[in-house]
Amino acid sequence: MSIVENATRSGSAAREDRPAGARPGEHPGEGAGTRPGEYVFDQAWDRESERLRTNEAIWDPGTVERLERIGVAEGWSVLEVGAGTGSITGWLSERVGPRGRVVAVDLETSRLDWLRAPNVEAVTLDIRHQDPPREAFDLVHARMVVQHLQDRPGAVARLVRALKPGGVLFLEDTDSLPLFRSATGEDFLADVKAAGYGLMRRAGHEPRGGHFDLAAVLDLGLEEVSAEGRAVMVRGGSHQARHYMLWLESLRSRLLAQGLLDEERIEAALREMADPANRWLSQVLISTIARKPR
Ligand SMILES: C[S@@+](CC[C@H](N)C(=O)[O-])C[C@H]1O[C@@H](n2cnc3c(N)ncnc32)[C@H](O)[C@@H]1O
Repeated sequence: MSIVENATRSGSAAREDRPAGARPGEHPGEGAGTRPGEYVFDQAWDRESERLRTNEAIWDPGTVERLERIGVAEGWSVLEVGAGTGSITGWLSERVGPRGRVVAVDLETSRLDWLRAPNVEAVTLDIRHQDPPREAFDLVHARMVVQHLQDRPGAVARLVRALKPGGVLFLEDTDSLPLFRSATGEDFLADVKAAGYGLMRRAGHEPRGGHFDLAAVLDLGLEEVSAEGRAVMVRGGSHQARHYMLWLESLRSRLLAQGLLDEERIEAALREMADPANRWLSQVLISTIARKPR
């Protein structure tokens, strides 16, 4: 039984049998992620799980370092928001042990089915409209989720309500400004970034999401607030580079339909990202950590 009101135990299974970005009967420029306020990435895309796993490969080491620093310990009760394919949920589950618990919420929870641990509960929940249990968690963590929401302060307030007094909020969202900075030249993939982020922005994604996390946390009167950013150098053709290739692939049909890029440019950009001679900087991921007053 779910512990979260108005939420369901698991999401619809991701469909694995469709061409990239396409849904039956839909114009390729319409559908998932094209309406303002809707999550921009298509949950039904056949490579969405791979896209999420490559994202974990970029950011997990730094996230785990910060979770260690926070002092997550046996017996803690943790809420993981927008859990994706669950690498951090799995780490938290091991860390909090059998006396602890991890509630992993997402719009789509079928990607968490591989996590069989008895201390993990996967719950389908839309953090735009649905409240997790109040004052129930020692830690609430959300990585690259709040930046996708139109009402970011409202969502952060909801996450703070889920914390016990004295609990820790750990938000991670990006500043996308340095993405694709490279020794190759000032304009390395600049047109691709502008097109992709323009599309994401129209769906409500905030490219400076990390800055807004800090503002929201300060406005809510949280204590012991800290914020810092990290970025990763990505080598063309690597597992991490694959994430940016999949990002572009996932947006391909909409970029084409909206005339933002053509096939030739997309193919050339994918070749550049696959080339080990190229290296570029990721987005900066800003970690905001703060404590709810006791
Ligand atoms: C960019 S992915 C990040 C996944 C994971 N946090 C990570 O960093 O590896 C964003 C995740 O948030 C989920 N998500 C997006 N909007 C959401 C919402 N309104 N409520 C709950 N989850 C949401 C998506 O389904 C996706 O799994």
